[in-house]
Amino acid sequence: MNFNKRFNDYKEIFEEALKNRIETLNSSNETLKDAMVYSLTVGGKRIRPVIMLAVAEVLCVDLNKVLPFAVAIECIHTYSLIHDDLPSMDNDDLRRGKPTNHKVYGEAMAILAGDALLNYAYELLLRSVTDNNSLSAARMLALYAGAFGMVGGQALDILSENTAKNEEILYKIHENKTGKLLLASTLVPSCLAGNECFDKLSEYGKNLGLLFQVTDDILDVVSSALKLGKSINKDADENKLTFVTLYGLEGAKKYADKYYEKAKNAIENIEDNEFLVGLLDFVKDREF
Ligand code: IPE
Ligand code: IPE
Ligand code: MG
Ligand code: MG
Ligand code: MG
Repeated sequence: MNFNKRFNDYKEIFEEALKNRIETLNSSNETLKDAMVYSLTVGGKRIRPVIMLAVAEVLCVDLNKVLPFAVAIECIHTYSLIHDDLPSMDNDDLRRGKPTNHKVYGEAMAILAGDALLNYAYELLLRSVTDNNSLSAARMLALYAGAFGMVGGQALDILSENTAKNEEILYKIHENKTGKLLLASTLVPSCLAGNECFDKLSEYGKNLGLLFQVTDDILDVVSSALKLGKSINKDADENKLTFVTLYGLEGAKKYADKYYEKAKNAIENIEDNEFLVGLLDFVKDREF
């Protein structure tokens, strides 16, 4: 299997679907639409859509059925980045190699572009609900994007800047702020397939999510702004609770190995799992 080719094939399928959606995106204001489109199209690995499409293929789910969910999750993720970069949150100037949304459009418009992307995601999800399986996929994504998932994790992340730091809180932050959207990427196709391989994909997605954020923590100290497309050494500067700030670089790498193994073991009995294992290597060894 050529991992890079397959990754790029999924990415292209996704980019085409996103482009088509953007062409029909309605907004009563051009500046707001520009701000939404700016962050959506400025780059990004598209790992969540790629995971969704890959798991869908393993479970023999029609890719056209999963694509609206892939666009929706990328809209939710992009909005989370716009808000994450705001001065009141992580205060970042660089994202995906370009100035952050608020640097280009101002804080108010950045908040609104995020709000609009989130609502657009729900519009897409609601339009995609045609049966009980798609309903449970949409409900799960909504649950994991909100207070019980990404937003909840972001709240803990912000609160942890000024409180005592421990392992339990660290795990909860990472499991939610990043883990839940990656988990949703693996579970949406399972829901669409009537919960096929649900438990195995749940365990895989959970550990893939943790691996993803531990690696993000590591890259913050070992990579460069040029490679990452975002500022480095931000976590220590903002007094964040991360695997690196709690355990040091070597400690964080050990956790990355642990989550990698757990995720790999979870899918050992799933047929055609090669690309899903490849995704773990991609996430662990990435430089951006
Ligand atoms: C960055 O996510 C924020 C985290 C959840 C760690 P990605 O690393 O997936 O960012 P893009 O989409 O590739 O820019
Ligand atoms: C953010 O985590 C996770 C989100 C939900 C956006 P980080 O704050 O570590 O992400 P980066 O490093 O800014 O991309
Ligand atoms: Mg943050
Ligand atoms: Mg940040
Ligand atoms: Mg980070």
